[in-house]
Amino acid sequence: MHPIQLVVFGSGGVGKSALTIQFVQGLFIEFYDPTIEDCFRRALQVDGQPCLLEIIDTAGTEQFTALYDMYMKRGEGFLLVYSVTSKGSLEDLEERREQILHIKGSTDPAATVPIVLIGNKTDIIHEREVSTDEGRRLAAEWRCPFLETSAKTAENVDEAFFSLVREVRLA
Ligand code: GTP
Ligand code: MG
Repeated sequence: MHPIQLVVFGSGGVGKSALTIQFVQGLFIEFYDPTIEDCFRRALQVDGQPCLLEIIDTAGTEQFTALYDMYMKRGEGFLLVYSVTSKGSLEDLEERREQILHIKGSTDPAATVPIVLIGNKTDIIHEREVSTDEGRRLAAEWRCPFLETSAKTAENVDEAFFSLVREVRLA
């Protein structure tokens, strides 16, 4: 089966690896080990249809970002992740999305690249900086699905990836 290539983007420390590992392996990684590049595979059914996912977990840390262009060319769907505890991490995603649209040659504003916006770390209630409404507003502007997740409690983690698979299938 041809694997669907998904790419997880977002600033350093927002929880890209934690989300991916929670989705693929069903466990929460507590310690922070900045990623250079990781690749995971999971075969599953989404809406009763089998699929094989290849998930590229990218580096948020500036010194490892040289490969972004290649991931954007190869990727079929993009999970854009910020942390609800960091307003800056939400702002950083604007540039990432612009880059993706540019590389995909999507000059037609009505044509969309499969993207799902994710606000992660909802379990850290006392440090929240980004409201659910702010995330929802940005997703409405981008015309893409939006979910808040916690890689720690696994809340909405499967749904995040399922939602992206649906976007890829629709594209
Ligand atoms: P880079 O690889 O450097 O880009 O970071 P990343 O986005 O992959 O972040 P990572 O998944 O490594 O998570 C960074 C830290 O945040 C780790 O200590 C994780 O345990 C923690 N973390 C990630 N997601 C969550 C979450 O949903 N809730 C809580 N409480 N902590 C989280
Ligand atoms: Mg990582």
